[in-house]
Amino acid sequence: MNLVELEKIADDLILLTRKKTGERFDRNSILGNLKVNEQTLQSALEIAGKWGYELTTDSAGRVAFIDAPDSLTATETGYNLGTNWLGKNLVAYSSAKSTNDLAAEAAQAGAEHGTVITAEEQTKGRGRLGREWYSPPGSAIYVSIILRPDFLPADAPGISIMTAVALADSLTLLLPDQIQLKWPNDIHIRGRKVAGILTELSADQDKINHLVVGVGINVNQLFEDFPRELQPIATSLRRECGHELRRVDVLQSFLRQFESEFDLYLEHRLAKSHDKIRGFSSLIGREITVSSGKKQRTGIVEDIDVEGRLILQTDEGRFPIIAGEVTVVKK
Ligand code: BTN
Repeated sequence: MNLVELEKIADDLILLTRKKTGERFDRNSILGNLKVNEQTLQSALEIAGKWGYELTTDSAGRVAFIDAPDSLTATETGYNLGTNWLGKNLVAYSSAKSTNDLAAEAAQAGAEHGTVITAEEQTKGRGRLGREWYSPPGSAIYVSIILRPDFLPADAPGISIMTAVALADSLTLLLPDQIQLKWPNDIHIRGRKVAGILTELSADQDKINHLVVGVGINVNQLFEDFPRELQPIATSLRRECGHELRRVDVLQSFLRQFESEFDLYLEHRLAKSHDKIRGFSSLIGREITVSSGKKQRTGIVEDIDVEGRLILQTDEGRFPIIAGEVTVVKK
């Protein structure tokens, strides 16, 4: 039997025993169920162990599933995900240059709407405005989603705010009343960034080829894990919750929220999320400077409108801002 066949049996063994976590399965019934001999079962147990699954064998040879690893593998992310269309195709890398780059390549090669690409680390993680996204292994989430909506390219920018709402909603389940959306789409807790979104569009004049929505979430990093320059401005869920979290749970919760927010967006654009956008927004009423290209405007944020534009009241008048980089003038 080759390694691929053995890995398939290890997968089947995990699925079988996981259905009743903690319960002991009679060895002969496992052998019969998986249609394998003792030696193959032993190898499958070893493979599952190497993948980080905890399976125990008692003195009578009975096998019990104890725990799953917190690895962003396709098996773990897909297990009990419960979405309708998102993540039916899951691709997981242990290391990637950037999941957004891999997603764009996969989309060009025909990957389906709803494909989800994850990585344990990124060697060239990218942030907005050409910045680097710090992407160490094992402690954070790096995920990209391929979308093929049939709306016009003009409706694509709203997807970033829609994603921010999905992210804010899912993180609010962990930290009620603490998640803030810093327009256009940064997620902050107590003024520090915990997650970022990078949406990239491939389109012709009036047709979207694909959209890639990339999301980075700081989950289990400690203060000292961040590079010095990020320490004052970044945070992680672990720092804010006071305990470690299972990244798989955080990712699944986000994917579920993303699917329902995206379905709403298809029908209503941001109209049904507008109250949430306002509620999560950390900028309304604040004095800010917003830079878009070479232009800079300073004023008070009056609102975020139903199209996701920042409404800025300045000395020169009232301006709707479509995109830009915000700096808060007065804390
Ligand atoms: C930002 O706030 O500047 C956006 C950060 C986006 C980071 C994510 S991590 C997954 C995906 N792959 C990337 O290279 N970037 C996005």
